[in-house]
Amino acid sequence: MSTRKATAVSCSNIAFIKYWGNRDQIERLPANDSLSMNLAALTTTTTVEFDRALTADVVMIGGRAITGPGRDRVSHVLDRVRAWRGLAAYARVDSRNNFPSGAGLASSASAFAALALAASAAAGLQLDEVQLSRLARFGSGSACRSVPGGYVEWTAGEDDRSSYAQSIAPADYWDLHDVIALIDLSHKSIGSTQGHALADTSPLQAARVATVPDRLVRARQAILNRDFAALTEVVEQDSLMMHAVMITSSPPLLYWQPGTLAVLHAVTEWRAAGLPCCATIDAGPNVHVICPAEAAPEVERRVRAVAGVRQVLVAAPGGPATLINA
Ligand code: PMV
Repeated sequence: MSTRKATAVSCSNIAFIKYWGNRDQIERLPANDSLSMNLAALTTTTTVEFDRALTADVVMIGGRAITGPGRDRVSHVLDRVRAWRGLAAYARVDSRNNFPSGAGLASSASAFAALALAASAAAGLQLDEVQLSRLARFGSGSACRSVPGGYVEWTAGEDDRSSYAQSIAPADYWDLHDVIALIDLSHKSIGSTQGHALADTSPLQAARVATVPDRLVRARQAILNRDFAALTEVVEQDSLMMHAVMITSSPPLLYWQPGTLAVLHAVTEWRAAGLPCCATIDAGPNVHVICPAEAAPEVERRVRAVAGVRQVLVAAPGGPATLINA
């Protein structure tokens, strides 16, 4: 057979306990454990086709061919699949997001989870969820958390074999929503791969990493108990800890814009007035406002009215990465 093809779809995810900094940049072994919720409304669909007629990997994102470091990153994941399978053929990769990429919405998470599943299936490998999570991690750390479904915990581990993510509760365990305030839709100047490499330049990183285990236990318990007040406290603290590290790195990474701060202050006010919601921010200016599903219409209405918010997306908990043509 000269060509083998598979298509996979995967959700993005929002971290409640953040991954920031690597112990090993190449293998993407993280400085700390992390925990996230998959986002059903934010997906990447990726088709991979191995073709012996190709002379190099061809990578299309959103219908446009990419070259340079972006394509190399995809090829590194494909190389791992080729090595496992003993395959020599290059691949054609076609990847499409249904949301804006590069604006702090973790497009790399859904993209590399979908790539790992589509590429391994196209190569004829039958990987279990742990192996798939490890493969996705190699492309983008947070992508390992988009392989399993629902609420997902990534154990940092000590090496490639022990660093992977697993579901702690399925998507339907707790109907939280993520109301995402998009502040800036342009591509961010410093992506997370470069950002991770700066984490250790902040004197606050060691304190953040040392205190993650306590926050992780609290976040996990809050989810298992469906305790929104407990989740609020730990989610906001963890996000601010990561941004404190970013802001105090050399050079500093200040992702926030005026609209970011406006949403943060508004969320604090709304909560004080009785609306259950909390805020968390990844490596970008956008604010993820997490709330119980029943509060989502009101939260969405209010977020849309905050100055500096350009667009709002709403996502329910999402399932695992899946093959759609198997
Ligand atoms: O997977 P990466 O390298 O894009 O890193 C993601 C880092 C954060 O989104 C900021 C936090 C996280 O845990 O998702």
